[in-house]
Amino acid sequence: MSILAIDAGTTGVTAVVVTPEGTIAAKGYQEFSQHFPRPGWVEHAPEEIWQATLEATREVLGKVDASELRGIGITNQRETILLWDRETLGSPRRAIVWQDRRTADICSRLRDEGHEDRVRELTGLRLDPYFSGTKLMWLAEHEPRTWDLVQSGRYAIGTVDSYLIARMTRGTWHVTDVSNACRTLLLDLSTGDWSDELCSLFGVPRDALPELVPNWGEIAVSDPKSFCDLSLPIAGVAGDQQSALFGQTCFDEGDSKCTYGTGSFILTNTGTTLERSDAGLLSTAAWRSPDGVLTYALEGAIFVTGAAVQWLRDGLQIVGSAAETAAIAATVDDTEGVVFVPALTGLGAPHWDPHARGLLIGLTRGTTRGHIVRATLEAIAFEVRDVLETVPGFQPGSASTLRVDGGASANDLLCQIQADQVGVAVERPKIVETTALGAAFLAGLGTGVWSSTDDLRETWQLDRRFDPAGDRAAADAGHARWIEAVERSKGWATL
Ligand code: G3P
Repeated sequence: MSILAIDAGTTGVTAVVVTPEGTIAAKGYQEFSQHFPRPGWVEHAPEEIWQATLEATREVLGKVDASELRGIGITNQRETILLWDRETLGSPRRAIVWQDRRTADICSRLRDEGHEDRVRELTGLRLDPYFSGTKLMWLAEHEPRTWDLVQSGRYAIGTVDSYLIARMTRGTWHVTDVSNACRTLLLDLSTGDWSDELCSLFGVPRDALPELVPNWGEIAVSDPKSFCDLSLPIAGVAGDQQSALFGQTCFDEGDSKCTYGTGSFILTNTGTTLERSDAGLLSTAAWRSPDGVLTYALEGAIFVTGAAVQWLRDGLQIVGSAAETAAIAATVDDTEGVVFVPALTGLGAPHWDPHARGLLIGLTRGTTRGHIVRATLEAIAFEVRDVLETVPGFQPGSASTLRVDGGASANDLLCQIQADQVGVAVERPKIVETTALGAAFLAGLGTGVWSSTDDLRETWQLDRRFDPAGDRAAADAGHARWIEAVERSKGWATL
């Protein structure tokens, strides 16, 4: 009795099989290409996402007994928007990815027209290129022939979850959940339903959008001809950050987690209350139960953290793998004044500047890759601190603990710098693939593998706790230098 969970992330697809004890029995992974057609643009080929999903699933199925599987859970990179033909399931163009900045001007235009306050009130979001709504507006304005087929009903619109479910079911289901839908700028967050007002503002035909389903329960059924010979209920779905919140068993109001992935995302469960922030946090839906209860969260979305490490590897080529960064950073005691602001796709929370660009400052002839790598790890911790300073309960010395997960949480040095910077304890669970775990938990609730969230809570196990140990004054001085560098990175793309 186990669950297949698919995590379709920004750089690759992970498939895991999760046991009733909440352990990962087997794993498959397949990376896919990133397309950068112009500076600031990021695209993915939908067919490649689908092929990577099949590949990762085949890999994991080769390691387990498929007859033991009870259901499928899906989690995904959010905000990335896709179109596909309802008949052929082929896509007329590449997906526009959440990191893509091409709609910065559309956002400014909408702001100048006075729409920002109303959009914020209805969606809990901001007018930023991050979200899907302005990406769809861009498509309508720049690719009218494609858009005509959206309006005529031939092309469906969806986020990655929706697309994968369509592919797994041969187009029978066109569905999504609130955690994905609320990131499109088209969902009324207070009702949890698509908003006609927002659809009309962004020019999106409501009929082209998926039907909203709960996060667990009867969602769809996979078609064995399309999906690896599996005929299983797709019984859990959620955007990756909300899925990680679920996987960390942050079920109570005030519970928080930070996932270090391509970006880093800090979410705090706010229960059934839709809380709002004036300090740059987003209000977001966490999940909706089959009986309709909507749980909300506050979110600090940081765009580039793991992606900065990836850039050290692929762009600068000064590290061979992410795993090496702790050892390379440890070759120096400190960065000797080097600061790296990884605003490679602009800045998200809490600074929000789509025109900011990356900045490496403080270089001298004595600078080595050790300093730059250490500055990168520090930047991740600084970015997370900037968000946590706006979250109630995370002031230095407070009793709160921050649960961390995602690839970079395996890096002990990063976790320690993080605890020193924020001034609260950081806790890392034994399983850091919490995003996939969350999707498995949702599907397991949906199929009766687990009967309640209390059952799930019992599966959470601590691997290591990092207490703030360093010198607070030194941590603050480093942070002050970082803030100065962040200010200098802002607005660069407009110069
Ligand atoms: O909002 C974007 C987020 O969903 C992407 O997550 O894990 O691919 O960095 P990740």
